[in-house]
Amino acid sequence: MPFDHFDVIAPIYARVTYSSLNKMRELAALPVKGRLLDVGGGTGRVASAVRDLVDEVVVADVSMGMLRQTPRPALQPVCAFSEFLPFPSGSFERVILVDALHHVVHQPATADEMFRVLKPGGRIIIEEPDIRSFGVKLIALAEKLLLMRSHFLSPRQIADLFERATIHTEDSSAWVVVLKL
Ligand SMILES: C[S@@+](CC[C@H](N)C(=O)[O-])C[C@H]1O[C@@H](n2cnc3c(N)ncnc32)[C@H](O)[C@@H]1O
Repeated sequence: MPFDHFDVIAPIYARVTYSSLNKMRELAALPVKGRLLDVGGGTGRVASAVRDLVDEVVVADVSMGMLRQTPRPALQPVCAFSEFLPFPSGSFERVILVDALHHVVHQPATADEMFRVLKPGGRIIIEEPDIRSFGVKLIALAEKLLLMRSHFLSPRQIADLFERATIHTEDSSAWVVVLKL
């Protein structure tokens, strides 16, 4: 297993990260009855913020260090690669992924898996830093220097991982929303 930066920063991650989750909540059309899966959910930072808006929240992440920080039993942590989600097809009303797509190794496989585990009538929300903005380009450079193997996609490239998706942007963030009919 290669060196995992997130295992190292997990204990302080919640203190050094901040982003407003209002847009994500709005695009996810929360509250909703049912289960939400937070892919690459790390310490459960985002999952905790939406916990009261759904019946059940599962956090899937590959870093045990990050998962150890998730509050239990409020959240259900599952150690899993986003490319091979260990859930039956159609298990979740909402599937979200925040600030993690550029970290996963295989982005098309991640998109396919997120769509597979989504229930018909459900929606996927992917939130990513918008690589077209100068500030995010600097972050991408810093992550390269830290050998983080990040690979940023533009909002259009993220949307193209799915058959039908809409793009929303604000400041230096982008959201891609996918509905499963
Ligand atoms: C920047 S953190 C974001 C965590 C959380 N979504 C948040 O916004 O607070 C990126 C997370 O993606 C996870 N990750 C990276 N590659 C992954 C993969 N292939 N499968 C699952 N999780 C992955 C990392 O372990 C890390 O917890």
